This record gives sequence, structure tokens and C-alpha cells, in this order.
Amino acid sequence: MIDSFGRKITYVRLSVTDRCDLRCRYCMAEKMTFLPRSEVLTLEELAQLADLLIGRGVRKIRLTGGEPLVRKGVEHLVADLGTRVGMGLDELTMTTNGTQLPRYARLLSDAGIRRINVSLDSRDPERFRYITRRGDLDQVLRGIDAAAEAGLKIKINMVALKNINEHEIEPMLVWCSEQGFDLTLIETMPLGNVEEDRTTHYLPLSDVKTRLDREFTLVPSFARTGGPARYWEIDGLGVRLGMITPLTNNFCDGCNRIRISATGTVYGCLGHDQKVELREALRSGSQDLVDEALDKLLKGKPRKHEFAIRAGEAPAVARHMSVTGG
Ligand code: GTP
Ligand code: 5AD
Ligand code: SF4
Repeated sequence: MIDSFGRKITYVRLSVTDRCDLRCRYCMAEKMTFLPRSEVLTLEELAQLADLLIGRGVRKIRLTGGEPLVRKGVEHLVADLGTRVGMGLDELTMTTNGTQLPRYARLLSDAGIRRINVSLDSRDPERFRYITRRGDLDQVLRGIDAAAEAGLKIKINMVALKNINEHEIEPMLVWCSEQGFDLTLIETMPLGNVEEDRTTHYLPLSDVKTRLDREFTLVPSFARTGGPARYWEIDGLGVRLGMITPLTNNFCDGCNRIRISATGTVYGCLGHDQKVELREALRSGSQDLVDEALDKLLKGKPRKHEFAIRAGEAPAVARHMSVTGG
């Protein structure tokens, strides 16, 4: 699959639910209306869709949400898709908030998942509760332990938030180094209305980089995970630091991905509404209809997102990150 800018699409982010057991302030409003269950693709349809995409050249599938591990029966989908790894699919992976990992970590590993990204914005129990509105830090840390014990490689995702967790960045880096995890910092993106004013907590990672440069030696890394992060190795710490900078350093030229919601809506870009619907095409059993829809999406895939965080401005798109998992 190649878009009109010549970018090859090999990475699909597949959301299995828009629901989540947490309500991170930068991601969701306190009160969310979730998709009616009747509109959500069945696990069989998700697997069928994955196969069609692999058939069209997709090499990496990341299961997302909401929180993917709150979808009932998700273990069957993971086990099913795991059988495609090495058979067309190079990597099956997942981004999770970690709350369900104590129960699922082993299963993910057994299914053929080799690495996961776990969101962890704070290692302080009260601050973690504040950011997630309802999370229990201990539960997530137990989940991370379970994942490490199951042999999964772990990357911690930390959304950098001014006046909330910015002073935890250096300690998080050291902790990740001790644990053998990678760390990726993320700039908060203006997606969907959240009660918070995003200008208050937006922290440009260019500033963080300047700050880290004073304390550590950051050596640019050529590591590539197929995602939007740029990486550095931290000299002496043995930890790889990623930065995802949609606001301060646009990475869209190298975009290799599309994202699919749990209802089968395919979005060409996180920062636009450009989309096609696959559910009915999928249910009709016609590969031609699915291909037609995907071709239309590729043709119209936007060149880049236009994110900006300015006081009083509506978010770039009304859709919350939890609809597509980013
Ligand atoms: P790796 O495979 O480890 O590189 O993962 P990833 O960074 O692709 O996935 P993850 O789910 O951990 O996403 C980290 C952050 O990157 C999330 O906030 C995503 O929303 C964001 N992200 C992923 N793809 C895009 C994109 O195309 N555009 C923008 N603006 N953000 C993205
Ligand atoms: N801006 C940036 N990152 C976000 N995430 C969720 N919402 C946002 C947002 N508005 C992060 C989560 C998770 C990843 C999928 O995206 O913390 O790590
Ligand atoms: Fe849930 Fe992830 Fe959104 Fe937090 S950031 S509310 S864990 S989907």
C-alpha cells in the first residue's frame, strides 16, 4: 500500500475497543460516551481484517484501544494473530496501560508478542492517581513486573506534562535503565475535548532535550522501531530514550501507518478526520470492496498533521486518542 506522497504503509494500529479502565486527563474527559457494542467488530472480523491487511503488505500490527486488554476475549485474538508472526507479519505488538498485565502478560508472550509499550506517566502513587483519575500505580507496576518476567521487552511511554510530571523525567530514565526498559517521552496532542486546558500542561520536548543534555550525554541512535519516535542512547545508563514530537518536530514525512477503530473505520492520519468505513465491506465478504475502500484512503491520506496547542483553541480533531489508540 503506497499513498499519494509515495509513503509505503506497512504498519497498522488496530484498536480493539475504545473503552478504558482509566481516564487519563490528557486523553479522556471524566465522562465519556463509548461506542455501542453492537457497532464494534467481532474478534473474528478483526482477525479477518488483519489477514486482509497482511495480504496488502502490512508487516507490523499494534493492538491498541482504549485499553486493548479490557476487551473481552482479546486473548483469543492475540493468540490467533500470533500465528501470523513470521508468516507475513514481522511483528505483533501492543500498547497497554498495564492494569491487566498481571493476568495477561504470560499469555501475550506465549502468543508470540515480543515487546510491548506500557503507558506510565508517573511513579508516584498520588500523582499517578491524579493523572489517570482512577489508576492504582501498584497494580500497573505489578503488571510491568509480570511482563518482564514473561520475557517481554518493555518500553515505557510517558506523556510529558508541564507542572505535573516534568520533574519525574530524569528519575524515570534512571529507573528504566535499572529495569532494562526503554523510555519514550511524548508531547501531549490536541485530540478531543478533555476538561483540562492543554496549554497549561503542554511541555515541548525540545526544552526537555536541552535540559537532559546538561545532565546526560545523549548519543543519537539509528534504532528504528517503525513508529514515530527518534531515539538516543544515554551514555553510561544503557537506556534508549525515544521522543515523539508531533508539535516541535514533525515526523510525518516518514509516516508508514494507518489506524483502524474498533468499528472498522480506517483513519489516514491521527490529526485529521479523513477516513473510510470497512465494516460493511468486510461483512459483505467482498475483498474488492475492502480493497476499494483502502485505495480511497491511501489516495486521500493527508501529508501531515497540523497540531498546535494554543489557549482557547478547539482541539485539532474532535476524536479522542482513545478511539484509535493513537
Ligand atoms: P513503536 O513500535 O515502539 O515505535 O511504537 P509507537 O510509538 O508506534 O506506538 P505507541 O502506541 O507506543 O505510540 C506512542 C505515541 O506515538 C502515542 O501517543 C501515539 O499516539 C503516537 N503516534 C503513533 N503514531 C503516530 C502518528 O502517526 N502521528 C502522531 N502524531 N502520533 C503518533
Ligand atoms: N497526547 C499524547 N499522547 C496521548 N496518549 C493518549 N492520549 C494522548 C494525547 N492526547 C498516549 C497514551 C499512550 C499512547 C497510546 O498515547 O499515554 O501511551
Ligand atoms: Fe486509557 Fe490510555 Fe487513554 Fe489513559 S491514555 S485513558 S490508559 S486509553
